[in-house]
Amino acid sequence: MKLQFSDKANQIKEGIFTVLDAKKNELLREGRTIYNLSVGTPDFRPMQHIMDAVAEAAKDPKNYKYALVELPELLTAMQGFYQRRFGVELEKDEIMALYGSQEGMSHIAWALCNPGDLVLVPNPGYQIFSIGPELCDAGVWAYPLLPENQFLPKLDEIPEDVARRAKFMVVSYPANPICKVAPESFYRELIAFAKKYEIMILHDNAYSDIVYGGRKGGSFLQYEGAKEVGIEFYSLSKSFNYTGARASFALGNREIIQKFRALRTQFDYGTFLPVQYGAIAALEGPFDGVEEQCRQYEERNRTLCGGLRRIGWNVPDSEGTMFVWAPLPEGYTNSEEFCVELMEKSGVICVPGSCFGSLGEGFVRMALVLPPEELEKAVESIARSGILQTEKVQN
Ligand SMILES: Cc1ncc(COP(=O)(O)O)c(C=O)c1O
Repeated sequence: MKLQFSDKANQIKEGIFTVLDAKKNELLREGRTIYNLSVGTPDFRPMQHIMDAVAEAAKDPKNYKYALVELPELLTAMQGFYQRRFGVELEKDEIMALYGSQEGMSHIAWALCNPGDLVLVPNPGYQIFSIGPELCDAGVWAYPLLPENQFLPKLDEIPEDVARRAKFMVVSYPANPICKVAPESFYRELIAFAKKYEIMILHDNAYSDIVYGGRKGGSFLQYEGAKEVGIEFYSLSKSFNYTGARASFALGNREIIQKFRALRTQFDYGTFLPVQYGAIAALEGPFDGVEEQCRQYEERNRTLCGGLRRIGWNVPDSEGTMFVWAPLPEGYTNSEEFCVELMEKSGVICVPGSCFGSLGEGFVRMALVLPPEELEKAVESIARSGILQTEKVQN
């Protein structure tokens, strides 16, 4: 029988990650040392009190039924957390739990747009921002994030007809992959822009707890008028190393939350209750572990970026996130080819910038998922590999 799949399924490519993975396995078979900086999964442990809460709840057979909705205690915990952490007051019907921001981002377009609608997404940006709208046949207009504009969108340069047609706009700072934090003035401009053109804003705040240089990450919902125009996604994945548990929230505009909640009841029976109990423990527990982890990410960032600069690769320090966004060394123009060559010659694995959109070409992304001593070794391995010799010219 000839199996005929949908055009959408046929369009989805496995891409460079499969190539990198195959190459990595080849090098491991040869006994080579690998420094895997490609994946954005934290290597830090979840805090003990979070694991205890999950484990305790997992022993109770009652916790294996469909959860259907959030536990009231989880909503209360989230209200308290947003109040303490960001000074933001939320009603319970302004909060909903998701199986991670990735899931939320990929499905929310179904609640917000019709085929042919337009969605604004960042370029470079996290891939899922455009996949969600594309899956429901909405058009995507990628707004450029350029170094000369401090990687912020120039809202007044978005063409009038595009702004008028746009249904929603995805914004995310601290930003993966570009590692930048947005200034407060930007959020005020964004809200005014959203109101002027009636564009809903979705702010992905996955890295608000990983900001460097003594600054503290904020929330989009802190700004006046934010709840009127949009919602925020806050994930427990990176702040609390809860990645595999799949726990994140959509918060803010009540109407958006209610529409999305109604839609999700068609494909979701609620977050596994032990995961909800772990999330409560995370949100109500001490926060100093999260702050200490941020300091450790910052030390890793200094070690890697400083080390690379020392050996002749001019990589700027990140402002936040758990990544480094490195312009290709002199002589290279193709990020995929560079990543493969870097891996073969030094064992260091990173992600080609082109995976994050056309404006990601010319960069590579490295994840800060190894301790400083290992990052030092990765830097030494790059130095020894000879890949930074500036006379190398690539076609
Ligand atoms: C910008 C951004 N949003 C969302 C996610 C995914 O978060 P979650 O684990 O909650 O799905 C990631 C993960 O790398 C991310 O970088």
